[in-house]
Amino acid sequence: MPTITVSSFKGGTAKTSTSLNIGAALARFHKQKILLIDFDAQANLTTGLGYDPDTHDSLAPVLQGKKNIRDIVLPTSHPRLSLIPADTWLERVEVTEALAGDRYSHERLREILKPLTKDFDTIIIDTPPSLCWLTESALIASQYALVAATPEFYSVKGLQRLSQFMQGIATRHSLDILGVTLSFWNPRGKSNTAFLDVIEETFPGKILGSKVRRDISVSEASIYGKPIFETAPSSRAAEDYTALAKELLKRIRSCRK
Ligand SMILES: Nc1ncnc2c1ncn2[C@@H]1O[C@H](COP(=O)(O)OP(=O)(O)O)[C@@H](O)[C@H]1O
Ligand SMILES: [Mg+2]
Repeated sequence: MPTITVSSFKGGTAKTSTSLNIGAALARFHKQKILLIDFDAQANLTTGLGYDPDTHDSLAPVLQGKKNIRDIVLPTSHPRLSLIPADTWLERVEVTEALAGDRYSHERLREILKPLTKDFDTIIIDTPPSLCWLTESALIASQYALVAATPEFYSVKGLQRLSQFMQGIATRHSLDILGVTLSFWNPRGKSNTAFLDVIEETFPGKILGSKVRRDISVSEASIYGKPIFETAPSSRAAEDYTALAKELLKRIRSCRK
């Protein structure tokens, strides 16, 4: 059962949309049991799946040892797709209560997720747009990191910092970079080759072939609180996420050999 963390150094790189729609694609087309974890206090994944973040517990009380993880898992409208929601309590959770004095607090998420590994085929963790305690904990709890990028100068520029951060974690924990996924892709973009070259330099051999094109159906789906396969199954983005999920599975299989 792999755990995959979706991360990037900045916001707006489609981390949340990627987590949601890859999870939905694996549940729908590959019959996997998927757990999505919203580990960003902004809770966009939670609202994107139709939940109000203020009415459900996030991982915060579980990390503080006050609640059992199984009690915070929610079902979604999509078969085989479950969610652990986020709320504002996740913000700076590491400096409060039981976590504040714990030198190994970064490893707590990994321990907490262990009992769930038998219940799900894949766990996908959506992270905040910074290299904070939450992102580090998520990467430590994962076998794989999926890097989210967009073909923009500022997105590509932060990748080197992210790569160093991940390498630092990989020296102490087993963490592989599964790939770099590009969203807001314009197949006819004039600077595509320049962007791909910079990414290739930082993450050699990691760029995924399936790019997610810019498509308004992605943001429309979040208004309905559902994955794109329910709101716009024949859209370009649905097609792209389907291909991306397939490519990720192939990579996971070849990593395991
Ligand atoms: N391929 C896409 N085409 C058009 N809009 C997109 C696409 N992917 C994401 N979006 C929209 O862009 C915004 C930022 O995406 P989001 O997934 O929330 O990024 P992040 O989690 O990295 O901040 C959201 O409004 C989302 O609906
Ligand atoms: Mg997000």
